Amino acid sequence: MGISEKIRQSMTEGSWIRRMFEEGAVLKQRYGDENVFDLSIGNPVMEPPPEFRRELRKLAENPFPGMHRYMPNAGYEETRAAVAEQLSRETSIEFTAGDIVMTCGAAGGMNVTLRAILNPGEEVILFAPYFLEYINYVDNASGTLKILPTDEQFLPKLDYFETAVGPKTKCVIINSPNNPAGVVYSEDLLRDLGEIIRKKETEYGTQIFVLSDEAYCRLIYDALEFPTPLCCHRQGVAVRSHSKDLALPGERIGYIAVHPDCDNHDDLIAGLAFCNRTLGFVNAPALMQHVVRHLQSVTISIAEYQRKRDFLYGSLVEMGYSLMKPQGAFYLFPRAPVEDDVAFVRELQEHLVLTVPGSSFGGPGHIRISYCVDDRALEGSLDGFRKVAGKHGLC
Ligand SMILES: Cc1ncc(COP(=O)(O)O)c(C=O)c1O
Repeated sequence: MGISEKIRQSMTEGSWIRRMFEEGAVLKQRYGDENVFDLSIGNPVMEPPPEFRRELRKLAENPFPGMHRYMPNAGYEETRAAVAEQLSRETSIEFTAGDIVMTCGAAGGMNVTLRAILNPGEEVILFAPYFLEYINYVDNASGTLKILPTDEQFLPKLDYFETAVGPKTKCVIINSPNNPAGVVYSEDLLRDLGEIIRKKETEYGTQIFVLSDEAYCRLIYDALEFPTPLCCHRQGVAVRSHSKDLALPGERIGYIAVHPDCDNHDDLIAGLAFCNRTLGFVNAPALMQHVVRHLQSVTISIAEYQRKRDFLYGSLVEMGYSLMKPQGAFYLFPRAPVEDDVAFVRELQEHLVLTVPGSSFGGPGHIRISYCVDDRALEGSLDGFRKVAGKHGLC
């Protein structure tokens, strides 16, 4: 009785981050906030850049009539134009306002896109490890998931991919920089993926979308360039967000960008706007659209995240953990020194260090560590990591 069986089951299966959050709250109550080192959740500790408050203040001091009313479901024309201008600067693609739909964050954008393109039962290809919410998003749109393994660098295996794309494949989700692995796909790899997709489109007479989740595209380190997958496939939809680059996750502001040369482009934009409305988002928040219009070239300090990455990565390597140096986002994904990643997360928890098992991201044998936290939590966690490493003979 009460909530649906399906929802109850999904809540039980996909609740690791929530579980750590709840258990963390109990630990914090018992031992004090300052003694629990919560590296489990990707909630940026940084405050938005000063330009954000400046724009907010301008609006509060100079309100204009109608600024809180309903608007076209795709968002304000001026905001869409500002987003398109910045996107054109960052990529080699000429976007216009007509290619953009403003959304309630990347989560809203992913749901709206999947809903707009999928017929029930059509397949979505996903590479593991993946952002765990995709499972729910694809289910929300009645799609079927095909999850593919990746190589030791967490990059797609092209032969597996080629075999997996079939007549029912409608969409390939690419998440670069990746949550949880932090890997960034190179332009060469994206070109290879695009070629395989086009070969399969010709073979089956289908249209296969690349759905590129670019929530972390501005959080890139060591001066690496971010190549958008849209450069390598014109049936492409990019989903972006200001949750991470402007540290505004609570404000729910992001957007969808459709490749200007995508087949049935105008139909798709109309479908996206329709789904924005009918999924109940209606439109992205008005106030935030007014604000981010002027902040398209602004970000929080990327150098600060890089410093945190270097600190924790360097410390874990020194302790003997095996992990790849992430090129973007704000997560580390080390191998657990025991097979059972859940047991390993529990061991760390005994030392008041909170992480998430890799198996909940389709990456068993690993743990996900979020380093978008304050330095106190990073420094405080080292003792626990060291003790557990010692216990397993890493150092
Ligand atoms: C890969 C990925 N996509 C989408 C989202 C959702 O972001 P938003 O807050 O913009 O909805 C997240 C949030 O952590 C994420 O990690």
